[in-house]
Amino acid sequence: MKHKVSAIILASGKGERAGFCKNKLLVPLCGAPALWHTLEKFNIPEIDEVVVTSSPCDKEKIDSLCKPFGYKVVTGGSTRTESVKNALCAVTGDIVLIHDGARPFVKKELIINCIESVKKFGSGVCAVKVTDTLARAELGMICDRPDRDGMYRLQTPQGFFTDDIREAYSLSKGKTFTDDSAVYCEYIGQCRIIDGDESNIKLTYREDFENDMPKLGHITGVKVGFGVDTHAFGEGSEVTLGGIKIPCDKGLVAHSDGDVIIHALMDALLSAAGLKDIGHYFPDTDEKYRGADSAKLLEKVVELVYDRGYALNNASITVQAEKPRLSPHIDKIIKNLAEILKTDENNIAVSAGTNEKLGYIGQGLGITVYCAVLLKDV
Ligand code: CTP
Ligand code: MG
Repeated sequence: MKHKVSAIILASGKGERAGFCKNKLLVPLCGAPALWHTLEKFNIPEIDEVVVTSSPCDKEKIDSLCKPFGYKVVTGGSTRTESVKNALCAVTGDIVLIHDGARPFVKKELIINCIESVKKFGSGVCAVKVTDTLARAELGMICDRPDRDGMYRLQTPQGFFTDDIREAYSLSKGKTFTDDSAVYCEYIGQCRIIDGDESNIKLTYREDFENDMPKLGHITGVKVGFGVDTHAFGEGSEVTLGGIKIPCDKGLVAHSDGDVIIHALMDALLSAAGLKDIGHYFPDTDEKYRGADSAKLLEKVVELVYDRGYALNNASITVQAEKPRLSPHIDKIIKNLAEILKTDENNIAVSAGTNEKLGYIGQGLGITVYCAVLLKDV
């Protein structure tokens, strides 16, 4: 018999223990909200339907994360148990896997093993053997030493036939449980354990967000970005480069202040963070940006990029211009950019050169700037 397999991803908690002042699942991890990584793991052919729970206050954000995957979002409850109950009402598969949104490191093989266990044994609960010695303590004093033999730490996903787990939850009335196997065991029967994975941790405390980046398959937690910009010379007696006004026998033609260094830098930053280019955020068709101070626009870009969970590792800027002579101004440019980027001056390099009289640069018609940046996860 071909089964229809649904998954419930629980994302309607508050994340209080993590202390981010918002749902921990919306905090960036490797450039995307933690929840996104969990959602992505369930985007496999073996799963036919995904239902995600959200609290009303996170609904807009969680809706937009789920939309590209075509997942359904339902309102969660005030406890995990209530959230599962709500989600079960929306499930249409005959097998259901219930998973904590806070476990983004789950491997796809584990999800598949869980489904297979339900088909064979009616349930599948991911679990890892306890390897540390166990103790029960009261008021900081050990009072009991339970035998660790046969003891497991239970994880998610936990899979069941939908009818069984629905019945279990409907019998549970107002009682609360910390996982689904507890509900199943109390009202339906024994659960089958399957080998979980030590790396399938639940993000609970702030430290969990700092220690576990490599498990998401990112090589070093860095992203490279590249940006180029060119402006033609026109009327004027000064140019603005890196936010510094420099005397020149011409100005640069532009809708904004024509700061070609900052423009290349902004595009490099946005590109590294996987965002759209500056034209998208500050269109030159918008009167608001006529004569705009590019340094102010850079502040906004920094905010966008840092909001994604990145910090600048370094930026490397190369200016090609026959004029003005830049060497007397480079230290000031670096200092100014470092301030806006909230980084050390050593992380920014600006070099300048002419184009040996070749092409439009060599003829003194304009300036081109190239910029490479490296972002790192925070
Ligand atoms: N969860 C839920 N609805 C709730 C409570 C929790 O969907 N009312 C979800 C969480 O979003 C999380 C999972 O259940 O994915 C496991 O819960 P937990 O790690 O305790 O997360 P939070 O309840 O958000 O965190 P905290 O207990 O620290 O507030
Ligand atoms: Mg909780």
